[in-house]
Amino acid sequence: MSAASTTPAESGNFLRSRLGSLLAIMPLGVWTLVHLWNNLSAFQGASAWQSAVTEHAHPLAQLITSILVLLPLALHTIWGLSRIFTARANVQRYTFFANLKYIIQRLSAIGIVLFLGAHIWLAMLHPRLVEHHAEAFGDIAGQMHHHMPTLIVYILGTLGVSYHLANGVSTFAMGWGLVGTRRALKKLELATYALFIVLLGMSWATIYALYVAGR
Ligand code: HEM
Repeated sequence: MSAASTTPAESGNFLRSRLGSLLAIMPLGVWTLVHLWNNLSAFQGASAWQSAVTEHAHPLAQLITSILVLLPLALHTIWGLSRIFTARANVQRYTFFANLKYIIQRLSAIGIVLFLGAHIWLAMLHPRLVEHHAEAFGDIAGQMHHHMPTLIVYILGTLGVSYHLANGVSTFAMGWGLVGTRRALKKLELATYALFIVLLGMSWATIYALYVAGR
């Protein structure tokens, strides 16, 4: 369809779709990578983890980070949920594997909404607003070791985030026309697997470090 015959509703949808996918990569995806990297300081003990994950140079820096992360997260969630209920898998046109990835992308999105809801409340808002201090290393490590549901939720939640983000980078690159040839597609597929393993490795390594520290 030519640009001239595009209706205002169609171009509005197109822009929303582009914005929804862009926000997921920048700042959300990049921030997630940094957040997981910072959490690896759990291997260096309480004070290293505390300063890497929960301390900010200035209260304003904390506020700005929260806005830069939570606002795009809310917008991406609204955009994503609206797509889950309108989109359909296409078994006639695409391979079984492509359809499976498409379905897991949507299922993982629902899991992430639940995981992040619990995570943001328990690790950030409850300690800060109710207990009047940031999440303490001893508390999260103790929960990870002694409270099995917390451990399972973190293991599965971070698995969902790793898949959703890695596969999301791949669909983002295709949606934005960044890959045009078969060779580029193959490279993108390998990069997606690598990113998935890196994200999952960082997440599960942190969970392990907290679990051991919580003994
Ligand atoms: C082992 C894994 C993880 C641990 C131990 C962890 C720990 C934490 C802690 C302690 C906070 C509170 C920080 C503060 O109060 O300043 C936090 C905030 C947050 N976490 Fe995680 N996290 C993990 C994985 C993830 C993943 C995979 C995501 C996915 C996007 C995520 C998203 C968030 C978000 C959005 C916030 C709120 C950030 C803000 O507004 O400043 N976390 N995390």
